[in-house]
Amino acid sequence: MDANVQSDPELVIIPISDIHRCSTFKTGDAQYQPLKTFLQQDSIDFKNNFIAQTYVVIDDNERTDKNKEPITFPYSIIGYITLTCSEIDIDYDFGECERAKRYTPYPAIKIARLAVDSRYRGQGIGSLLLEYALYLVKDAIMPKVGCRFLITDAKQNAISFYARYDMQLVDTEENKSSEHPIMFIDLYKTAHYSSGENKVSQSEAILAN
Ligand SMILES: CC(C)(COP(=O)(O)OP(=O)(O)OC[C@H]1O[C@@H](n2cnc3c(N)ncnc32)[C@H](O)[C@@H]1OP(=O)(O)O)[C@@H](O)C(=O)NCCC(=O)NCCS
Repeated sequence: MDANVQSDPELVIIPISDIHRCSTFKTGDAQYQPLKTFLQQDSIDFKNNFIAQTYVVIDDNERTDKNKEPITFPYSIIGYITLTCSEIDIDYDFGECERAKRYTPYPAIKIARLAVDSRYRGQGIGSLLLEYALYLVKDAIMPKVGCRFLITDAKQNAISFYARYDMQLVDTEENKSSEHPIMFIDLYKTAHYSSGENKVSQSEAILAN
């Protein structure tokens, strides 16, 4: 049965918590089962040990009793994205910053996992998570630490999804024929991705309540 996002859902992206309900998350096809296993078994340990941070999409309308604190509410997880530090080794044209070429591999943030509950796919939630990741990296990491790329090891059937957001395949035969080819986007060129900002304010507002 399809679980369409309700007409007026209050979708919010927040950091994962150990009280969120991972067990209801459906991955659909068996090939995606590891995405649920990660969510259930590893995401909290990775968070607590600063290995990778997971952000989840929840519907705040699930919290019908608004007297309950959001941070104590066991939301169902509709989708999630996991980010970690990484690097990328590519032959890249940095334009006027030619000397950057001496510092390969280059700093990157990696989308280590991205999944939307199979009942909610095709409703814009994957895009929301990707835009949120772009916003987070550009707002919190690029200007304060330095990080030029967002990368991922893409599943073959997600390549065209990432390509919609200008992520491109590392252009080597070895990469293009691998099971999970590396895709990247040059964050310096992504000034137009800003819609994640609202989700950040929304999330922070909810957490503060
Ligand atoms: C890939 C995934 C995260 C996309 O999430 P989603 O919520 O279904 O995506 P959206 O609804 O935001 O889609 C945005 C657009 O991308 C398109 N799209 C979605 N999945 C796509 C795919 N696999 N290939 C090509 N296009 C895709 C949608 O049709 C939509 O296009 P539109 O704006 O013209 O309508 C989701 O399908 C998923 O969880 N898949 C299984 C796990 C997976 O492959 N994760 C990626 C790991 S590398």
